[in-house]
Amino acid sequence: MRILVIGKSGQLARSLAVRAEGQSDIEVVCVGRPDFDLEDVSTFVPVLSAVRPDVVINAAAHTGVDRQEDEPARAFAMNAEAPGVLAKLTAESGIPIVHVSTDYVFDGRAVRPYVETDLPNPQTVYGRSKLAGEEAVRRGNADHLIVRTAWVVSCYGSNFVKTMLKLAEARDSLQVVADQHGNPTDAHDLADGLLAAARVRRDRGRFQQSVYHLAGSGRASWFELATCVLHASEALSGPCAAVEPISSRQWPAKAERPMNSELDCEAFFRDFGFRAGAWQDRVAAIVAAIGEAKANVCGGALGS
Ligand SMILES: NC(=O)c1ccc[n+]([C@@H]2O[C@H](COP(=O)([O-])OP(=O)(O)OC[C@H]3O[C@@H](n4cnc5c(N)ncnc54)[C@H](OP(=O)(O)O)[C@@H]3O)[C@@H](O)[C@H]2O)c1
Repeated sequence: MRILVIGKSGQLARSLAVRAEGQSDIEVVCVGRPDFDLEDVSTFVPVLSAVRPDVVINAAAHTGVDRQEDEPARAFAMNAEAPGVLAKLTAESGIPIVHVSTDYVFDGRAVRPYVETDLPNPQTVYGRSKLAGEEAVRRGNADHLIVRTAWVVSCYGSNFVKTMLKLAEARDSLQVVADQHGNPTDAHDLADGLLAAARVRRDRGRFQQSVYHLAGSGRASWFELATCVLHASEALSGPCAAVEPISSRQWPAKAERPMNSELDCEAFFRDFGFRAGAWQDRVAAIVAAIGEAKANVCGGALGS
């Protein structure tokens, strides 16, 4: 099965490439800018014609949550219109499309994990553009799968784990928001889940339902996540710092984050047989991988 992944350098795109390595039934081809540009839909057909995929996974998006508050037109073009065009083109060629969406489609006011049938109510430009992307994909290609994920972390690109490690190199203590909760998700787990879903689609000939949730197992606040990162780092003699819990009111952001964006992932497990690992274990492994990569570059220990 040849899978065209839209995106090359992002956390999910790189994870899909790594996790497909050595799997005899899967070939992953990642295509990013400039060959496939969400801001230039004329690049789509040449890539689809050249790769001739069995399935397309869209791992590309405008992910700058705060920046998008100032550039809503660009956010909607990249996160909604472009996926809609891609969905139509894949439908014309009979290719299923897997599109990745976000917990930010919800307002975060629920007092339990969100299930797929809960009503979205996005509070940010990012969340609204991603919800519009879900609708555009649904309209464009009946053979689609929309997977909402959350709090993606990995040893690649930019993410919260890397930010905490970098800040700890320069500071003795960090203030981190403790009243927002979600599911930290290892990008490798997300990639494994999407590959599992693509296999099920190949074997059954269809997706069971339109939207699923897939995120890491277990609930955390940003404060708990930061604490876990820095404990893991300290255990490896890497950068460490004290972590002080603060409220979101003390850390105002341009785009308001959901207070609770926990996702219920039981439907994904039921239909695709995949569950993401416990976030604490995954975070420890990511911190170790970042340390190893750094040691290889620096020729020294983590943090040196
Ligand atoms: N990160 C999170 O916490 C999080 C949470 C919930 C949902 N998600 C969703 O998960 C998906 C993957 O996120 P991620 O964390 O892997 O994102 P990321 O690390 O920020 O990577 C973004 C990807 O988008 C691509 N991209 C950006 N602008 C592009 C353009 N104009 N044309 C083509 N590609 C472009 C980049 O491609 P290049 O390779 O060309 O640079 C990169 O591969 C996204 O749909 C995101 O909305 C992420």
